[in-house]
Amino acid sequence: MQIYQPAEDSYLLQETLKQYLKSKSKNIKILDMGSGTGIQAKTARDLGFKDITTIDINPNAIKLLEKEKLNPILSNLFTEFNHFTEFNHNTEFNQQQKFNLITFNAPYLPEDEREPEDTKQNTTAGEKGYEIILDFLEQAKPHLTQDGEILLLISSLSQPNIIEKKARELKYNFKILNQTSLFFEKLFVYKLSNL
Ligand SMILES: C[S@@+](CC[C@H](N)C(=O)[O-])C[C@H]1O[C@@H](n2cnc3c(N)ncnc32)[C@H](O)[C@@H]1O
Repeated sequence: MQIYQPAEDSYLLQETLKQYLKSKSKNIKILDMGSGTGIQAKTARDLGFKDITTIDINPNAIKLLEKEKLNPILSNLFTEFNHFTEFNHNTEFNQQQKFNLITFNAPYLPEDEREPEDTKQNTTAGEKGYEIILDFLEQAKPHLTQDGEILLLISSLSQPNIIEKKARELKYNFKILNQTSLFFEKLFVYKLSNL
């Protein structure tokens, strides 16, 4: 499986993350979901943040993230955490699975049968282009500290109105922090937090 190489979406989230982290304590716990090459996690580390975990579903990305010492976990979204939690009733352990910041440059395109299987997981969010993002928002909630925030990158092709509706249902507070227009789509970085 190919590892997603940073592109405009990665750079927009990276720029937003740099700005966002300026006012944050260096002690915050950060999770980079769908970390790929680790561009977002490395950006945080280069700015002095130390408590960084990465997750990806692609075993090749995990190997790379291991080499970079970015604490990778091979997982489909939060599934691995939820396995641990199911069998572990130690409150301290479960507390450790909460993060002050979760970043996710999500796969955000609707399914296209011409897309090779090898790269589909990097770009395709599901049949409609938002499914994985809705799952992420649902699963991320219990892994956010009370003051925790999410930086989520999506596209105009992933139907932002459906994603915003889900965010409202899940009682997230949200706003658009950054955006850019490309040839055939617009990219947005949302900040979401618990109400
Ligand atoms: C658009 S790429 C972003 C990569 C990198 N974060 C960046 O900004 O360049 C999406 C990433 O999400 C990962 N991914 C896709 N589905 C996933 C899932 N269900 N759970 C965890 N990671 C997933 C892909 O393997 C890929 O690395």
